[in-house]
Amino acid sequence: MRTEGDSWDINTSVGSTALFVAAARAIAARRPDALAVDPYAEVFLRAAGAEWAALIDGDTEQVREHPLYSADFGRTFVEFQAARTRYFDDYFEAVTAAGIRQIVMLAAGLDARAYRLPWPDGTVIYELDQPRVLEFKRDALAANGDKARADRRAVAVDLHEDWPTALRDNGFDPAERSAWLLEGLLIYLPAATQDELFATIDALAAPGSRISIEQVSPSDQADTPLARQSDAAKDDWMNLIYDEPRSEVAQWFSERGWDAERTELTDYLRAAGRDVAVLDVGFPLSSVSLVTAVRRG
Ligand SMILES: C[S@@+](CC[C@H](N)C(=O)[O-])C[C@H]1O[C@@H](n2cnc3c(N)ncnc32)[C@H](O)[C@@H]1O
Repeated sequence: MRTEGDSWDINTSVGSTALFVAAARAIAARRPDALAVDPYAEVFLRAAGAEWAALIDGDTEQVREHPLYSADFGRTFVEFQAARTRYFDDYFEAVTAAGIRQIVMLAAGLDARAYRLPWPDGTVIYELDQPRVLEFKRDALAANGDKARADRRAVAVDLHEDWPTALRDNGFDPAERSAWLLEGLLIYLPAATQDELFATIDALAAPGSRISIEQVSPSDQADTPLARQSDAAKDDWMNLIYDEPRSEVAQWFSERGWDAERTELTDYLRAAGRDVAVLDVGFPLSSVSLVTAVRRG
């Protein structure tokens, strides 16, 4: 159960979800027709310990029974993660082409884009997450000899607290255009916090700024994600999320001077040549949409 002011490391509570999605990326990266390849996901699994490393090394019964390898949920979830990785990679390509040099990743988790993507000179990337998650990431990549390809600034915060001050203290300039990413975050925040977060971003984003967000409908609008997963795993995850009605992202931003475009994950996968009818057996893909918005000048 979540509590006010709760915190975590990479192996506990919401922190472990960062490792779980990194594991999905590592598995996706090994497929010949992967929609996205994130080589750093594997680095994190190895740093997290033998149990995680086994997901890419081992062929034990334990590995075969892991949810990420199941023929229904696992197959679909891995494709879903690769698709969202690709969608947001393409977003950043457009962002840098438009000349934006301030990037803010809220709940960056084990996102390695600062290390992976070709950032133009002068790009500053602010990665916000809980302190122990960012420490794990820093140590794992440093031990592997990896260096960021931009000026990466880790901002250790709880997003329920005064993160804008921490962001500014690290050099963020609200007068300059910025590009924001909220990938795999909203369901871990109460609906009211989501709205507060959006209002804060709206206040910090200069005209011409951009934002890209993954949203998942609550279970009264669509099947609950993981609904078809094993009961234990589902219960663990359901205890971490706020499964409640919340603002529709594209509408929220459209009403406040942003041009927003919403893409259904199913349409995105179809356009990428994936057989959604087959995939949808394992996970309610229709609950997920990807939204990108540009602040009008
Ligand atoms: C599913 S992971 C997604 C990580 C990353 N964006 C990705 O897609 O790989 C969720 C992340 O949200 C972070 N998070 C959730 N609630 C947070 C909060 N209140 N403050 C800071 N970080 C938070 C967790 O620590 C975790 O890294």
